[in-house]
Amino acid sequence: MDMRELEQQCKNCFKCELAKTRTNVVFGTGNENAKVMFVGEGPGENEDLQGEPFVGRAGQLLNLMLDAVDLSREKDIYITNIVKCRPPKNRDPLESESECCIPYLRKQTVIIRPKIIVCLGRIAATRLISPDFKVTKEHGQWHFKGGMWFMGTFHPAALLRNQSNKPDAMEDLLSLKDKMKELEIIK
Ligand code: URA
Repeated sequence: MDMRELEQQCKNCFKCELAKTRTNVVFGTGNENAKVMFVGEGPGENEDLQGEPFVGRAGQLLNLMLDAVDLSREKDIYITNIVKCRPPKNRDPLESESECCIPYLRKQTVIIRPKIIVCLGRIAATRLISPDFKVTKEHGQWHFKGGMWFMGTFHPAALLRNQSNKPDAMEDLLSLKDKMKELEIIK
């Protein structure tokens, strides 16, 4: 299956209740040949309206942070979420909703074959790295699993609420760049 077929399947998905309240499915954007994938939690209001991940205030902060370490969102990264439809009032996705949706993320990963996955926030990190992952304690640490490197860092929406974690988040992005150099993804 190619990415367009998978996207069509996902856009026609009614496997969970989130389908009933969504405006758009937010499948993912960026470079499908990138070696780095960023995974967030789920679409917010702006993402639901526009059908693209991280286009609201959190996304704008993410863009600034990527710019600051000279990474290109379009060229270096593919961005998606654990759940592809907006949970009402931006609540955390239910376990059952994540469970329904994660096969799409797995298939995206099989098609893109990233070397690195960066988990933005607790929901992605507990799902993809370890169930008891604590962002404040374990952000920036590298884990090798299933042939890929994983790192969890602060969710940009959490950084908007608590600016004091921004320097740590920037260090995590610098560590990402180091890992990209080590793996010869960039010079
Ligand atoms: N927060 C997320 O986790 N994902 C988005 O796409 C937007 C905000």
